[in-house]
Amino acid sequence: MKRLAILGCTGSIGQSTLSIVEQFPDRFSVASLAAGRNLDEAYAQAVRWRPRMVSLATEELAAQLSARLRQAGVSGVNVVHGTAGTVACATLPEADFVVSAIVGVAGLEATHAAILAGKPVGLANKECMVAAGEILTAAARRLNVPILPIDSEHNAVHQCLRVGARSEVKTIWLTASGGPFRQLPLDQFAGITPEQALKHPTWVMGRRITIDSATMLNKGLEIIEACRLFDVGSRQVRVTVHPQSTVHSLVEFVDGSILAQISVTDMRLPILYALAYPERPASTLTFDLAALRRLEFEQPDFERFPCLRLAFEAAEKGGAHCIALNAADEVAVEAFLNRRIPFMGIPRTIEKVLASTPEAHPATIAEVLAADREARQRASAALE
Ligand SMILES: NC(=O)c1ccc[n+]([C@@H]2O[C@H](COP(=O)([O-])OP(=O)(O)OC[C@H]3O[C@@H](n4cnc5c(N)ncnc54)[C@H](OP(=O)(O)O)[C@@H]3O)[C@@H](O)[C@H]2O)c1
Repeated sequence: MKRLAILGCTGSIGQSTLSIVEQFPDRFSVASLAAGRNLDEAYAQAVRWRPRMVSLATEELAAQLSARLRQAGVSGVNVVHGTAGTVACATLPEADFVVSAIVGVAGLEATHAAILAGKPVGLANKECMVAAGEILTAAARRLNVPILPIDSEHNAVHQCLRVGARSEVKTIWLTASGGPFRQLPLDQFAGITPEQALKHPTWVMGRRITIDSATMLNKGLEIIEACRLFDVGSRQVRVTVHPQSTVHSLVEFVDGSILAQISVTDMRLPILYALAYPERPASTLTFDLAALRRLEFEQPDFERFPCLRLAFEAAEKGGAHCIALNAADEVAVEAFLNRRIPFMGIPRTIEKVLASTPEAHPATIAEVLAADREARQRASAALE
């Protein structure tokens, strides 16, 4: 039985993880749950799963949850809050495996703490790998802690890499759906609304990643995530636009062979793979190969999606530039969703912030978070 700490339990990945626990009660159970501000969902999950610990973003929300659990006669759930709360959930002695699915750098300290505590991590939170990947992977290597990618592309690459040595890898190909604006004429980009950008053609996900998919910054973050997870340079990672989202990614080996991973577009599959690794439990997530008609692959359009170019530039520089890329994007996406800037204001804000970012390589999590705060301030100033 693997006892899970689920960070980001109320989100899209968190809830999919709980549905896997529901389907495999003999394999997985819930040790701790960390949420942000969704009190109702955190309460329902605490009642359903009876974890040892639940964390919420603030002291006030934690007090409300404690009161509701008391009223319902639920005992034995330790309610904590804030960053210290998510860290406590991640390092709970009873937890054997940590699912890192908080959105943004808010999940960084808990993910780092989980690795330092020797807990295997199922990683969905790509932003923490972009901001502090060098620190996280160095700690994981030193302590021999596995980091298993949940992001579908990296999960696909992880599966393909099982058949060959790293020295035999020529190129990692990340597939991208191209998002909802793949074919929209460039002169109509100025009028894109948050509602249009929130409609992803193939995946249902949280708000930030959905907007990031529409600008293709998400693929940019994934390039950096791939470099860190698989220890390759940014020139060894390429992007191909694949509108069907059937091939989740590919690995090209030096002899010319290309291996691809194909499955349904359902995040429960990569989550199950990460939770059960190295086993492969039988599941109902089957793919209908007979219904497959087309597999298209196109070159990405850097003019339409400047975020992709900016991400490649940041990946090349590493360190503070990757931190700034992620921080500026988070601020700009929020501003776009609040209708303060147009869609193309997102890449413009990121470009301004990257241009004023000094070359630096923060060596500790505290330095990463300081660089992140500083980049956010410059992004907010750029919006004014
Ligand atoms: N969804 C996907 O299909 C998918 C695929 C690949 C990778 N990912 C990655 O997985 C991560 C989660 O994505 P998602 O789509 O699941 O996002 P989401 O639906 O927006 O969920 C985000 C989760 O983070 C929690 N959270 C936010 N701020 C927090 C804080 N300060 N402290 C504690 N918890 C906090 C939220 O809590 P509340 O809701 O309670 O506020 C929620 O549980 C992201 O890094 C994303 O890039 C997602």
